[in-house]
Amino acid sequence: MQNHPARLNRRKRDGGELTRDEIRDFVTGVVDGSLGDAQLGAFLMAVCCNGMTPTETVELTLAMRDSGRVLRHDAVPRAKVDKHSTGGVGDKVSLLLAPLVAAAGVAVPMISGRGLGHTGGTIDKLAAIPGYRTDLSCERFQQVLQECGYAMAGASAEIAPADRRMYSTRDVTGTVESIPLITASILSKKLAEGIDGLVMDVKAGRAAFMQREEDAVALMESIVAVGRAAGVKVAALLTDMDHPLGRGLGNALEVTEILQALDGDCPDDLREVTLALGAEMLLLAGVATDLPAARATLEQLWRDGVVKQCFRHNLEVQGGDPRVLDDASLLGRAPHVVAIKAARPGFVADVDPLELGHVIVDLGGGRRQPTDAVDPHVGVVLAKTLGEAITTGEALAFVHARTAAAAAAASKRVAAAMPIGDKRRRRGALVKRRMA
Ligand code: URA
Repeated sequence: MQNHPARLNRRKRDGGELTRDEIRDFVTGVVDGSLGDAQLGAFLMAVCCNGMTPTETVELTLAMRDSGRVLRHDAVPRAKVDKHSTGGVGDKVSLLLAPLVAAAGVAVPMISGRGLGHTGGTIDKLAAIPGYRTDLSCERFQQVLQECGYAMAGASAEIAPADRRMYSTRDVTGTVESIPLITASILSKKLAEGIDGLVMDVKAGRAAFMQREEDAVALMESIVAVGRAAGVKVAALLTDMDHPLGRGLGNALEVTEILQALDGDCPDDLREVTLALGAEMLLLAGVATDLPAARATLEQLWRDGVVKQCFRHNLEVQGGDPRVLDDASLLGRAPHVVAIKAARPGFVADVDPLELGHVIVDLGGGRRQPTDAVDPHVGVVLAKTLGEAITTGEALAFVHARTAAAAAAASKRVAAAMPIGDKRRRRGALVKRRMA
């Protein structure tokens, strides 16, 4: 580092503004190791407490993007648009959205994360498909994109390496909750994908990264502004995470739900959020003139089986076993599947996504620590969702567990997370706000 970190930290601590060169210098020090952990921690805390100006946030994002490889897909003539979600329970949208949007003529270079804590990750869901490879080199990722219109990969050390060190330091210094730092972390990785457009799905609710709607809106505004300043088209939707998305919760169970959805059997909430995000992607790509036309295109491709063909092609190219499309049992199954029966008649009065997310982690389907292994087969399938009528003895949900003891412990918690009441409660709007 050319600038002395203590001097920059002091200025940031006292509410001053850093220049582009100072921020770039700092990020260089993050990656080459010349910046110490204490200096990085102090910087993150100063930003967390004092914020960053919009210009500083843009510069930090670009410096983090440029800390690794920035992909270009010159051989792909289509517009390149991706989606990123801040995550939630049952959020399997990417698995359906990528082939859907690719089928409509948009290239989708999707680099995703693994799950940590109660929220699942796309890479863990894909790992539940026998043979499917997400550890693609940048070159292979580009080839897959060219060959089948979309590519799904995990973030390699080559993409925005500054974020790896910064995120893990934020985790241990209590500085995760900072809008400029979250913005730079998310966008640095997405901008390195070589995209023309990005649709953000910012979730709000009990199981969301941002639980309060006003915080989710602040993040949306920041990501839209910084993404645009970085030269990418950005749209954002604020969507509900006060209840899980769909009925399958847990990696293989979510893939099973996607396989059914490809054949048209898709829960309404999953369909709605997928189409809403997909339509925004088509608009950004310039392949549709308005949202209703974009939705109509996507619905037709879905109905006609084109999306399933696109999914099959990607499975074949990325090493997955395409026979799962005709036989989901090839995904495997946990040895203990236990039905939770309703103790009384009524309506499902709540489905607490945060508790269900924790149950899945405790069943082994998620990680407490980044190094934890994940059991692909465990989880919960909701037989009923919010507001649905149920009679005594009817199945409320099914727990999929590795042992009988784990199934019994999880069953009690799932029953408590899904109380039955006398009044039919309806879910609020799934898409709460749009910025485009
Ligand atoms: N996801 C990221 O990639 N980074 C953050 O800072 C928060 C969520």
